[in-house]
This record gives sequence, C-alpha cells and structure tokens, in this order.
Amino acid sequence: MTQIDVHLTPDYAARTLREDVRTGLTADAKWLPPKWFYDARGSDLFEQITRLPEYYPTRAEREILQARSAEIAKLTKARTLVELGSGSSEKTRLLLDGLRDHGSLSTFVPLDVSESALRDASDAINADYPTIGVHGVVGDFTAHLDKLPGDSPRLVAFLGGTIGNLLPEERAGFYRSIRDVLEPGEWLLLGTDLVKDPATLVAAYDDAQGVTAEFNRNVLRVINRQLGADFDVDAFEHVALWDAEEERIEMRLRATSPQRVLIPEVHLEVDFAEGEELHTEISTKFRPEGVAAELAAGGFAQAAWWTDSEARFALSLWQAV
Ligand SMILES: C[S@@+](CC[C@H](N)C(=O)[O-])C[C@H]1O[C@@H](n2cnc3c(N)ncnc32)[C@H](O)[C@@H]1O
Repeated sequence: MTQIDVHLTPDYAARTLREDVRTGLTADAKWLPPKWFYDARGSDLFEQITRLPEYYPTRAEREILQARSAEIAKLTKARTLVELGSGSSEKTRLLLDGLRDHGSLSTFVPLDVSESALRDASDAINADYPTIGVHGVVGDFTAHLDKLPGDSPRLVAFLGGTIGNLLPEERAGFYRSIRDVLEPGEWLLLGTDLVKDPATLVAAYDDAQGVTAEFNRNVLRVINRQLGADFDVDAFEHVALWDAEEERIEMRLRATSPQRVLIPEVHLEVDFAEGEELHTEISTKFRPEGVAAELAAGGFAQAAWWTDSEARFALSLWQAV
C-alpha cells in the first residue's frame, strides 16, 4: 500500500521559492539554494548524472551498500527505513533487500522535495516490495523532519553525499534536528563523499557531455516557469571549481554577457555584469575525523564507518545517544 503526505504544498513551495529568490538574487554575491534544481526535469537530469562515467559517487556508494546492507539490517533491526532526499531510491533497494531479508522492516518512508521523483519511486518500490508499506512524504528535509511517520526502531538514511550541499552551520542544525526526532538508540546512515584529488572531483561536476551543466542551468528554467522570469538560460555558463580551503566543489552560473532579468512575481529586476557568477550549489567533501566531530556534536555515537574499495566515498552508521 502506498500513502503520500504532501507537506510541500504548491502554496508553500511558491512562497519559499519567492523568498529564496528575493534573498539570494539581491545579495552582493548572488546565490540560490540547490533544492530548486529539482523539478521533474531536474530530477531526471540528476539520474542521468548518476550514470555518467565521471560521476563516481553513486557507483562507490552502491558498492558499499551491496557489501554492507545485510550487516546494517542485523545491527539496526529497523522496522522503519526513512530516506531523506530519496530521489529515485534506486540504491536504497539494496538496503530494502537487506532489511526485508532480515525480517524486521515494515515501512519505507522516502522524503523528497521533488514530487514527481517521490511518486515514481514510491510506486515502483510498492510494486516490487509487496510486504513493505510505502509512506512517502513530499517535503523539505530542512523543515519537515517532525512530520516523519513510522514505528521504532527507525533507520534514517541520507545517501548520495547530499549532506555536502549544506554549509557547516546548516549541517550542525540538520544533525540536531534529526537527533531531536529520534529516540535514543535509533539510527542514522550517512553517505559522505571524501576529499580526493581535485581533477577527479572537478570532472565529476563538469562532465564531458554537459549533463551537469544542463542540471545547473535548470534552476533558471524553474524560476522562469514558476515566477514568470525571463532568464536567457543560454547566456549563463556552467562553472565547477574546487575550493581547496573549504574542501568543497562550488557550482556556479556565470553570465557570459551583461544581463537584466525581470522576475515579475517578486517585482524584481536583477542585473548581472558580464562574468558575474550566481552560486548554485556547494558539494563539500569530507574526512573521517570531521564527520565524527560533527556527528558527536549532533548527539550521535559512531557504530560503523565503511568505504568503497578505492576509498572514494564513505557510508557511516550512527546511533542517537
Ligand atoms: C544529490 S540528489 C541524491 C538523490 C539520491 N539520494 C541518491 O543518492 O542518488 C539530492 C536529492 O535530494 C532532494 N532534495 C534536495 N534538497 C532537498 C530538501 N531541502 N528537502 C528534501 N529533498 C531535497 C532532491 O530532490 C534529490 O532527489
């Protein structure tokens, strides 16, 4: 049986998009939060990214899940698997297999801002896992964690390295808010991409086929459609660079000529100078000691740390204390 709760109603989404556009595009260094990439087209482009030769994180995380899902099931005995930023939930099937075979799982709770991705994934999993109830949530993981259904013990999975899209202070708040909704002894499974050589990292965010560039520009299409804006999407080029000090990839959109953009729904006229950059996403890369310090501060004890065979990506298991 599939049930879907929609907390990100069209009204809520429209209001928060307007707020974010007003704040981000009137700032000195223009920025937008990455969640607005993900309309149906953005979610589809992200799926294409996961299959690109340069984009190793999905393959590396899948390798770990393949090796460890049975162990994760045995350790957690989870009755509810919650997945934040679930997207297609493709890799998650490995966890579902492990938990189903272990015999503890009753409910799967995917949560995503992308309603199309959430509904497609929920329907597919419902069809393929008849013994597991699917209770999807269309929501924002920075706002709707208190709305998570499911019986204890719960395992909250946050995969794909999506945690790296948050700034350090946002990560601290995010871990605390997950901890607040868990009972002591419940679990968090976290996927983190690891620091490695910059050439590999930059290639993963600037692929030869230009799929990531299209994904990046999609945020402008979303604003054009949702807020009646007139961004000339092709007048912005994709930029992906490695910030060695912050240890993160930065994705930006650079105006290739002077642009004046009208955004009627928020009564804004925004000027871009030639070469001016709009910051659209960070993707932080981690070291084991940094992850451990942040999770300890958030109220979690480490239960396991696994990497793929090339130590590119880590999956770690944490227990709420
Ligand atoms: C980098 S993709 C990862 C998808 C999938 N977990 C994976 O590992 O392949 C990020 C996912 O998180 C979702 N997302 C981004 N920001 C979100 C937010 N604030 N709240 C809920 N979902 C969000 C996107 O729609 C997308 O499905």
